Amino acid sequence: MNDFSDKIVQILNQGALNLALSLGYSLKIFDVMDEIKKPATLDTLAAATALDRRYLKEWLGIMVTGEIIVLSADPPEKKNPEETYYLPPAHADVLTRRAGNNNLGVYTQETPLLTTCAMEAVQKGFLTGQGVSFDHYPRFQQFMSQLSNAKHEQVLIRIFLPSVDNGALVDRLKEGLTVCDIGCGEGVALNLMAKAFPNSQFLGVDNHGGAIASATESAQKMNLPNARFSVLDAAQIKGDKTFFQKFDYVTAFDAIHDQSHPLTVLEGIRAMLKPGGQFSMVDIKAATRLGDNLDHPMGPFLYTVSLMHCMPIGLNDKGRGLGMMWGKEQALALLAQAGFDRVEALEIPDDPFNLHFLCKNLPPKG
Ligand SMILES: C[S@@+](CC[C@H](N)C(=O)[O-])C[C@H]1O[C@@H](n2cnc3c(N)ncnc32)[C@H](O)[C@@H]1O
Repeated sequence: MNDFSDKIVQILNQGALNLALSLGYSLKIFDVMDEIKKPATLDTLAAATALDRRYLKEWLGIMVTGEIIVLSADPPEKKNPEETYYLPPAHADVLTRRAGNNNLGVYTQETPLLTTCAMEAVQKGFLTGQGVSFDHYPRFQQFMSQLSNAKHEQVLIRIFLPSVDNGALVDRLKEGLTVCDIGCGEGVALNLMAKAFPNSQFLGVDNHGGAIASATESAQKMNLPNARFSVLDAAQIKGDKTFFQKFDYVTAFDAIHDQSHPLTVLEGIRAMLKPGGQFSMVDIKAATRLGDNLDHPMGPFLYTVSLMHCMPIGLNDKGRGLGMMWGKEQALALLAQAGFDRVEALEIPDDPFNLHFLCKNLPPKG
């Protein structure tokens, strides 16, 4: 086989493995194997996972040939030893829910999920240039919450917020600020912040009614009187006087590149900030020029998520369709166009895949 055929064969195998990893993650098989901590027979695994033995056996075939799970014989000297399956702890460290911010298992679900949701609609989009409506992604908000849980629970309060202005923001949050999270989804980040800073007031906005209902329910369960949520198209904020200069701090986690009208949204965010207020836009770390992304460790994956979700969503309503890989240069240009006085693109400790665009709305001179 020539080199390129080899590459395609590898892709077929890796793509198949992604699909099977996704099944293993969503069915919590890796978590169960991690808890067992030693090689286990098929019967033991079927009992421990409460899953069908035959399906499990076929799935293990993929995992063993794909070198995710180790096959051994127990005891090896016996004539017909029973086969056992073992998930090495180093693999569990990135495939299980306990992995926290290192959890890559959760991402294995993304391509299969987006394929189920939008394959045909995206194919059609290639012919028509139209966007894909959000209705095609019924399980997306729930999936985003899983990602957010993995990401925000460990990083947001402990690392990200303390990194803003060398801890000065956290000091002010402890005293009491008004904060708004744009495109808050199911409210994972906002509720964590509301819990950590009870003297501050938090508003989460998202145009997805179902996500806001879940966010509100979580806030009630977590007993957070300082967290409120509102179903709102972020593009409406710019013309809404009730938002004008009401907030000390605004956040948008992974939400601006999905907007149909990102400039209007950014202008609205600038208008809702008090003079001297700050806006943290956290978005994918990439370059705008394709040629500058050749070394990106997750280039094909991120462009795929963008093609299957972010870009077609952003094309709706005659939108701009920035896509997830819009890149640092375009982000800085758009923030400047929206009128932000001072913008810094900052690395985020412990998060190599995102950039923090910290925007300050300077108080008027004199
Ligand atoms: C990729 S998700 C990020 C969710 C959340 N910030 C997080 O970090 O998990 C983008 C979010 O932006 C919301 N969104 C997209 N367009 C919006 C709009 N025009 N107004 C408000 N929210 C919007 C989506 O509903 C979705 O919840």
